[in-house]
Amino acid sequence: MTAPLLELRGLSGGYPPVSVFRGIDLTIYENESVGLFGPNGHGKTTLLKTIAGVIDPWEGDIVFAGNRLNAAGRMAARTSRHLNYDLFRKRRIKAATVVEQGLIYVMQGNLLFPELTVEEVLDIAPRAARGRSGIKDMHRRVDMLFPRLRERWHSKIRYLSGGERQMLSIAVGLLALPRLLVLDEPTLGLSPKLRIELGEAIGKIRDSEVPLIIVDQNLEFLTSLVDRMYLFDHGSITREIAGDAMPSHDEVMAMMFGKAG
Ligand SMILES: Nc1ncnc2c1ncn2[C@@H]1O[C@H](COP(=O)(O)OP(=O)(O)OP(=O)(O)O)[C@@H](O)[C@H]1O
Ligand SMILES: [Mg+2]
Repeated sequence: MTAPLLELRGLSGGYPPVSVFRGIDLTIYENESVGLFGPNGHGKTTLLKTIAGVIDPWEGDIVFAGNRLNAAGRMAARTSRHLNYDLFRKRRIKAATVVEQGLIYVMQGNLLFPELTVEEVLDIAPRAARGRSGIKDMHRRVDMLFPRLRERWHSKIRYLSGGERQMLSIAVGLLALPRLLVLDEPTLGLSPKLRIELGEAIGKIRDSEVPLIIVDQNLEFLTSLVDRMYLFDHGSITREIAGDAMPSHDEVMAMMFGKAG
């Protein structure tokens, strides 16, 4: 058995005072990729944002490669609805530390700077990985994975298609030299043809031994890329599905909603 890469222990979080997910226990080992599947608005992105240090965990631990990333203990509860707690509450996790450790989150909706060119974005991206070797190599790999980006090299982001933006977002994530790459709905809004193209590239990333966490609404896409899958429902993991027992779309619907269709 390989060592755990990411361990979530009793993790809870949300947007104070609204709790979004609770009691998440999850272990991802080196060299495996897992999928998260669940209905819209049930908290998948909120969980990923917490792991990435974008928002603070309320309770529980995030342990990455043996290091706890969050401050120990529980977030103090809000006691007055007249105070803006964001103004004085100390952060309980540092996004910069998370990135330096190599836990890289590619956000849902590929948020990029619209006025920069592809070249400029890919030039800035490796700064997250400064001091580590392998960036030149990764630039070459990104070129091979996404040849379309070379064709759009001097184009501003705002002129790129949805698929090209998604490729660029993943390229930015790769240039941070991930030890774990987290992809939040990479195929959102893409045509079936582009989804296949992106799926092939993501498959190559996985095969190059970058473990992945992928959230996607397309079950076929997801199951083709991961070793294990979790069903996520109402802020909790409700089921773990092994890679050799990947169910059909109808079977998953029945597991989640109690009936097929
Ligand atoms: N910045 C925010 N502030 C307050 N509430 C938010 C914020 N972002 C999301 N929420 C709420 O948190 C809940 C979970 O949203 P989240 O985006 O995590 O769901 P999701 O499972 O990723 O959905 P989707 O499949 O649509 O991406 C929703 O009720 C949403 O309205
Ligand atoms: Mg989401």
